[in-house]
Amino acid sequence: MKKQYIIAIDGPAASGKSTTAKLLAKKLKYVYIDSGAMYRACGLYALNHNINLKDVKSLQQMLDKIDIKIKYTEQDNKLYLNGEDVTFRIREADITKLSSEIAVIGIVREKMVELQREIGKDGGVIMDGRDIGTIVFPYADFKFFMIADVKTRAKRRWEEANEKGENLNLEEIEKEIIWRDKNDTTRKISPLVKAQDAIEVDTSNMTIKEQANYLFNYICEEKNA
Ligand code: CDP
Ligand code: CDP
Repeated sequence: MKKQYIIAIDGPAASGKSTTAKLLAKKLKYVYIDSGAMYRACGLYALNHNINLKDVKSLQQMLDKIDIKIKYTEQDNKLYLNGEDVTFRIREADITKLSSEIAVIGIVREKMVELQREIGKDGGVIMDGRDIGTIVFPYADFKFFMIADVKTRAKRRWEEANEKGENLNLEEIEKEIIWRDKNDTTRKISPLVKAQDAIEVDTSNMTIKEQANYLFNYICEEKNA
């Protein structure tokens, strides 16, 4: 594959974006960028520094000081927030909700989108999130929109937590996902929506391998067409 494509994968929580993106990145030798991790890092910074999300001045000061760096490794990416490795901390439940709350704020999004465009501009990148195919890279070479029913997504997150040794309640996870779906799809700026030219993939009854192969085969067929 000669051209270094930009591949956008959007969709709601636990629809299978990151597992697919990681496998695809390995196959194509591309870089995988998890844009959600950046909003999570903003949420963590706001929490650690007691930032009032309604106070534009404090938010602006926060954005002037915040420094997000992603280090790419063979196994996984690491996210550094002002020099500190917060890769695991940003996955915790308190940050999950905060990330969605902070992601509705225009000036926060502007800064994150700028960073995402800078990282992806040369291609050879697979970026997942909510607005990658619509706002960040509207001219992406490939756009996918992954979905799955809410019960399946909640169960996936519950199993994921179990594997990490976290004892979470399935109903609570489902409620959190429903809340986040609503918050992400109804916000005024860059809501979660399928780009008109995105390929929708329902992963409810797919394995991780099947969903990754589906995208990989689609890309290979298109490039040969
Ligand atoms: O990135 P996104 O939030 O869309 O989802 P993910 O991190 O790819 O998947 C969420 C969880 O569901 C992970 O633990 C995956 O291993 C699992 N999963 C699964 O069991 N079967 C699938 N077809 C897709 C994901
Ligand atoms: O892994 P999961 O799908 O649960 O969430 P994430 O991708 O880490 O994203 C966390 C939150 O960041 C989402 O619920 C969105 O509110 C926000 N987000 C966004 O607004 N735009 C993006 N491109 C990526 C994430």
